[in-house]
Amino acid sequence: MTVRHFLSLLDYTEIEYRRILNRAAALKQAYAAGIRPATLRQRVLGMIFEKASTRTRLSFEAGMAQLGGTAIFLSPRDTQLGRGEPIADSARVMSRMVDAVMIRTKDHAMIEEFAAHSKVPVINALTDLNHPCQLLADVFAFEQNRGSIQGKRVAWIGDGFNMCHSYINAAQVFDFELVIATPPGYEPDAKIVAAAGSRIRLVNTAQEAAKNADLLVTDVWASMGQEEERERRLRDFAGFTINKQVMEHANADALFMHCLPAHRDEEVSAEVMDGAQSIVWEEAEARLHTQKALLEYLILGDVSADLSHPH
Ligand code: CP
Ligand code: NVA
Repeated sequence: MTVRHFLSLLDYTEIEYRRILNRAAALKQAYAAGIRPATLRQRVLGMIFEKASTRTRLSFEAGMAQLGGTAIFLSPRDTQLGRGEPIADSARVMSRMVDAVMIRTKDHAMIEEFAAHSKVPVINALTDLNHPCQLLADVFAFEQNRGSIQGKRVAWIGDGFNMCHSYINAAQVFDFELVIATPPGYEPDAKIVAAAGSRIRLVNTAQEAAKNADLLVTDVWASMGQEEERERRLRDFAGFTINKQVMEHANADALFMHCLPAHRDEEVSAEVMDGAQSIVWEEAEARLHTQKALLEYLILGDVSADLSHPH
């Protein structure tokens, strides 16, 4: 059987994600009860980080350790990848030594090429195109608080970049409505929008996007690699801050999420970020539980291992 990768949310069906998310809920409960099943004992995850990370590295590394396995951190600074060894060769070598590979890089084509030559599952831990791992966490965190996301209205306010693309994919897979507000010139990729059909609506203002929303989401205005555009972006995104006034257009029980790291009083006001409707810390923790379930699914091909045996 050919190996399956996780490069985009569109790579699996909703039924498969439901199994993964249910398993994540069970793993979360087990973890809280002090039970750490060794389902990935002696398994190894290779992690290639070509960009910075706090949450992604921690959640994958801690997650593997908690399941009895190991994660190895690799950066271009201290591997031959950084000295020009071909991606295909690196994939052939790494995948003979580890059980799965996680990659964070700029160019989505790099991860696709790596996956094409890998014998083990490759996980996309953020590219300039998308960030599917974050969406597993976001859907999980929302549903832990509000039940099924199906049919709900989500407002994306900010940059139509990698996180926005994964929200569009998620609307397609999990069947929710997504209203996107970006400044002119920062719209998401039209092909990705078109693939999600009538669930997606593009509007011009934060207030319009927020109207009757069940969830409001944003991301930084200058992503990794766009630092030199920061000043221009701060000007272009004026009016797209999620603040109390914007939240007032949403449903009274609407939640706020942000993949983090956040810039308070840029894309979100401090008041909203640290307010009662924000579940950003729970969302960050959800990376741990959902990725443990994802790792089990990709490495073991199953998410039903007994949770009652601590290691
Ligand atoms: N949300 C997220 O991916 O965070 P890091 O960049 O810290 O990994
Ligand atoms: N859009 C952000 C997400 C960080 C998790 C970036 O690419 O830097």
